[in-house]
Amino acid sequence: MYTQEMLPFSSVVKRFVTFFVLFLFVVTCVGCASTRKTIVKITPQEFTFPKSFLWGAATSAHQVEGNNTNNDWWEWEQTRPAQERSGQAADEWNRFEEDFKLAQDLGHTAHRFSIEWSRIEPQENQWDSKAIDHYAQVIRSLRLKGMEPIVTLNHFTLPLWLAHQGGWCSQKTPELYARYVEKVTEALGRDVHYWVTFNEPGGYIYKSYLIGEWPPGLKSPDKALVVFKNLLLGHVLAYEKIKSIYAIKGWKEPMIGIAQSVLIFRACSDRSLRDRIAARFRHWMFNHLFIQALINGRAYCMGVFSVHLPKTKTLDFIGLNYYTREFVHHNGFGFPGILGDACTETKELNRRTGKNNFLSWEIYPQGLYTFLKDFSRYRIPLFVSENGIATDDDTERTEFIVAHLKAMVQAMKEGVPVMGYLYWSLLDNYEWAEGFVPRFGLIEVNYTTQKRTVRESARVFEKIIRCKRLWFRKTYSH
Ligand code: GAL
Repeated sequence: MYTQEMLPFSSVVKRFVTFFVLFLFVVTCVGCASTRKTIVKITPQEFTFPKSFLWGAATSAHQVEGNNTNNDWWEWEQTRPAQERSGQAADEWNRFEEDFKLAQDLGHTAHRFSIEWSRIEPQENQWDSKAIDHYAQVIRSLRLKGMEPIVTLNHFTLPLWLAHQGGWCSQKTPELYARYVEKVTEALGRDVHYWVTFNEPGGYIYKSYLIGEWPPGLKSPDKALVVFKNLLLGHVLAYEKIKSIYAIKGWKEPMIGIAQSVLIFRACSDRSLRDRIAARFRHWMFNHLFIQALINGRAYCMGVFSVHLPKTKTLDFIGLNYYTREFVHHNGFGFPGILGDACTETKELNRRTGKNNFLSWEIYPQGLYTFLKDFSRYRIPLFVSENGIATDDDTERTEFIVAHLKAMVQAMKEGVPVMGYLYWSLLDNYEWAEGFVPRFGLIEVNYTTQKRTVRESARVFEKIIRCKRLWFRKTYSH
């Protein structure tokens, strides 16, 4: 009986052992397969940057120079009690040498800065040779330190005399701008290869003429359209002027572009067709319209505008200023209602990354990849002309830079031609309507003493610049 009972037991054991071995085999195989699959997916790839890749940071005159008393922003600051004033800013007018030395020590090979029109032409048709000499020294200083100057000709501000005669609403302004550009090019062009005619024309029109947050503080769709046309014309005239001066002087042909603000726009609710239309429309108007107009020589929107420019293809590169993603909901079908309204909360909250900067801008590195891929359709070299984070936590800055560089590198690996990457900003500075509180700098500025302190994130950026290589994972898809 005992033996009889033993037999079934041993067969049960045998069966159990066989089953267990089989189970282990299957688990191991499936496990290996899935591990292999995962390994393929997550294996980091190495990317080596081309030798010519330009690395550095950007600033703008009014935000860092200090005492730009003769422009529309200065006047705006004095007349708005709630607005923090730019005052001495980062005192860059006097400290550029010291700051460029820091940038050089951090391995930068390029620096983007802007020329302040109100200093060059303080009164209509009066030219300040000392101001021109100052910028010549700025450029010389960069060159001596091995940094490529990338010169923005207009970064939001206008001379007071021009603002008082209508600024970009005036039909005369494109010609006046071209005359200023001519002066600057004649004086400084020999040492400059990269020119940016305008910084963020779309953002400027929106803030200054549609929502009235910046000078001249208008909320006028009609004026916004006039400014849009005049900025386009201003660019084309400046482009022709710069090119012809270089040709006459026999200088090496320069590259001329704009710095385009790009924001990812998504519908507040994916289920709302109207929200989706608003997001698409905003995307086209804010991100692509200006660029397409300069490439095609015309811009058209049924019943809203029709613009014809004297020349096509006036972009040698496109600068992308990329920071964040925004959610948009429907606000009517007329203009500007069709652009929708930004909503801070989305109905599908889980779609947000959950990480915001100090100004509540969502941190969304994928957007940089998306735009580089998207803009590669124009077959014009691209430049990351601004990308940065306002934060009091420098670890966040390091993470931000690395994540965005990886997104950029993935696009480059997939064939997108990117000429360079400029972090915004070299220094803490005057953040327009937000004043001095947001800290964007690789270098901290103590505004009481003007003491500079290099942040740790700048060192991490330096390491990447110096080693010219980056490991990344193929994370995004277009
Ligand atoms: C850009 C602008 C810069 C700087 C930056 C950070 O739109 O060109 O001047 O303010 O944003 O907000």
